[in-house]
Formats: sequence, structure tokens, C-alpha cells
Amino acid sequence: MKHLFYSLIVILLLCFYNIAKAQKFEHLADTPAMGWNSWNKFTDYINEDIVKGTIDAMVETGLRDVGYIYINIDDSWHGERDGKGFIQSSPKKFPSGIKVLADYAHSKGLKLGLYSDAGYKTCANYSGSLGHEYQDALQYARWGVDYLKEDFCYTENINPIGAYTLMCNAIRDAGRPVYFSICEGGYNKPWEWGKAISHSWRTTIDIQNNFESVLSIIDQQEGLRKYAGPGHWNDPDMLEVGNGMSVHEDRAHFTMWCMLAAPLILGNDIRSMNKETAEILMNKDVIAIDQDKLGVEALKFSSENGLEFWFKPLENGDWAFCILNRNKTPENYIIDWQKFNLKDDISQRSINFDTIIYNLRNLWTKKSEGNTRGKKKIVIEGHDILIWRLSRKE
Ligand code: GLA
Repeated sequence: MKHLFYSLIVILLLCFYNIAKAQKFEHLADTPAMGWNSWNKFTDYINEDIVKGTIDAMVETGLRDVGYIYINIDDSWHGERDGKGFIQSSPKKFPSGIKVLADYAHSKGLKLGLYSDAGYKTCANYSGSLGHEYQDALQYARWGVDYLKEDFCYTENINPIGAYTLMCNAIRDAGRPVYFSICEGGYNKPWEWGKAISHSWRTTIDIQNNFESVLSIIDQQEGLRKYAGPGHWNDPDMLEVGNGMSVHEDRAHFTMWCMLAAPLILGNDIRSMNKETAEILMNKDVIAIDQDKLGVEALKFSSENGLEFWFKPLENGDWAFCILNRNKTPENYIIDWQKFNLKDDISQRSINFDTIIYNLRNLWTKKSEGNTRGKKKIVIEGHDILIWRLSRKE
């Protein structure tokens, strides 16, 4: 019994030591990460040509220049481990190897990311990092990898905090600054422990390519905004913009991710996206809401008949304000600004529409739309959103 007691103390001390030692690389995510990931569109059917074509498209479309810099290869890039246990890429899908792709991405001003898993297999049944954490981190560093998403399939009884701390330490010891993204579906409340060891953590299970899934993910962010900030973000999953939802839905999805200060990781085929998709993904004014340096997520102020009213405080004293229409049908509404006076405990900022007048700039039409002096009549299409930047009137 005594033995067991002392062993438990030793294990606990080791755990504390491991966590205390953990140190992620700082300043890799002062604002939410922006990039692309292969999974939503290509799942297992990913290969070197697609990734190379995506790197080219990132530059040619202008996506890189508005801030999307990560090219992340998700699950199923893996081959067998070599005789010493080092992971290799699939010779069939990635015949030139990951280093060549990383070099190519870097030559275009982009960064390359990979996916692994804290268990013995990835979710798609490839070799996981369990027991190979230091070797994997070393291999990624040798290849010039800049971003690691680590999943949590096939982990059985592994403690998630310990597992992610271990990988964080392995990355640190390998010496190359790598953005570390925790992906365990939000089951173990990573927002409570992820800040010291990662740059973002998934808050939910996988997004699906439909608006119900988008709404459900938005609902699941409730109560989480206090955990996010510069360097450590809630991740409501990768974008589905351009994968088949309507333009209204895509716009609402994208705007809400920006209001939530979410990592903006594209999930569509950017080599062949249409004009509407490109316009959504490259709306600099909306991206600026996501990338605002204050780093505070929007708060849901209220909801009324399927309309939701969200406010996000911005660095220069402005606010982003949006109205999300969850209904399938268009809605008419009259904004009575005084109803929205608010005090945000997290940012310590407040709005008093009785004493301060704000100018309104519509971030999708790019038009100035008067100010908050009088009531404002609006119509919002079904499954759509309106967003304004509110700037104090001089
Ligand atoms: C999980 C993750 C997804 C994707 C797949 C790959 O489901 O949440 O984002 O990485 O695994 O197998």
C-alpha cells in the first residue's frame, strides 16, 4: 500500500514536471492562423500534385497576399516507418518526399504543415506518433515543417494533457518553431489546459459541409471566448466555404469564423474555386475582423426569432457587429440601437449608443450606411449574415 502511495506521488510529480517544462514556440499565432488543409475536400485522396498545385494556386489567386500562408497536409500522407522507426511519407502519394514540398512552399513565401496523432494510429489508420514523439518531431524539423495538427484517435487510456505536453516538448527539443494544433474534438476541454502547450485547440467534432453543422458548431462555442487570445485560439474547425453550400451560407459561415477569431484554414479546392468563393475568402475587411490584434472573440449579445446579434471589440476602439439569420427565410428587422448597449467583462469594453454615435460600414457591400443615430431597417436573406464595422463618429 505504502509502495503504491509513493509510486503515485512520483507519477504525479513527473506529470507536473512535464507540464511545467512544456514550452511552445511563442509568437507563431499572435493572430489566428490562416492557411489551407487537405482534409475537408480531399480526405485520403491527397498527393504531391494536389499539394504542389495548391501552393501555386495560393500565390496565383492572391490568397497568400491576403494572409493565407499555411499549406497543411492532413491525414494519410504517411508511409511506413524506416528500420530505425522514423516516419516516411507514402512513396506512392508523395514520391519526392515532404522536404521537397516544404522547400517549394518556402520558396513561394508559404509554410508547410503536417498531421499526426497522439495514438498508435491516425484516425485514417496510418502510423501514429505514440512512442515516436521525439523521432517524429525531429523528422518534421529535418523536413522543414512549420505546423503540426495532432489528433487523438487510437489513444485508449492515454491522458490527453500528458500526450500533448509530450509532443509540445518534442517539438521544442527538435528546435524548429512549429505551430502546434491540438485536435481531440473538444472532449477533454482543451481550452482549460491547451494555452501553455499549443497555439489552438479544436473545440468540437468535425465540421460537415452543411449549414446545420455550421450552426451547431457556433452554438458549441458558448462559454469559450474567455479562453482564447493572442497566441492561443479556440478552433471551431476548418472552413467548408466553396464546398457546396449556398453563397449566403458560405458568407455567413466565413463571417462567423472571423467573429469568433477562429483559425481560417480553407477546406476547398483553391485550384478551381469560382468567383463568389474567391470573393468571400479574400474579403480583406472581414479578414481584418478575424485578425484584429486585440484578439477577443465576439460575444453573442442576444437572439430574437432566429436572428442572432454578435459584437466583437476591435483594437482601435471600433466594434464589429453582425446579425446572423439562422432561418431559411429572409427576415425584416428594425435595429433599435439603444437595445444593444453592452458591457463586456472579458475585454472590459462597453458600448453606449445613448451617448456615442458610431458610423456604420457594411463589410460585404463595402458601403457606408449612415450611423447609429436613428433606428435602422434591414432585410437579411435566409441563412445569411450582415456585418458592419462600427467606428466612433468624430
Ligand atoms: C479527425 C479530424 C479531422 C481530420 C481527420 C483525419 O476526424 O478531426 O479534422 O483530420 O481526423 O482522419
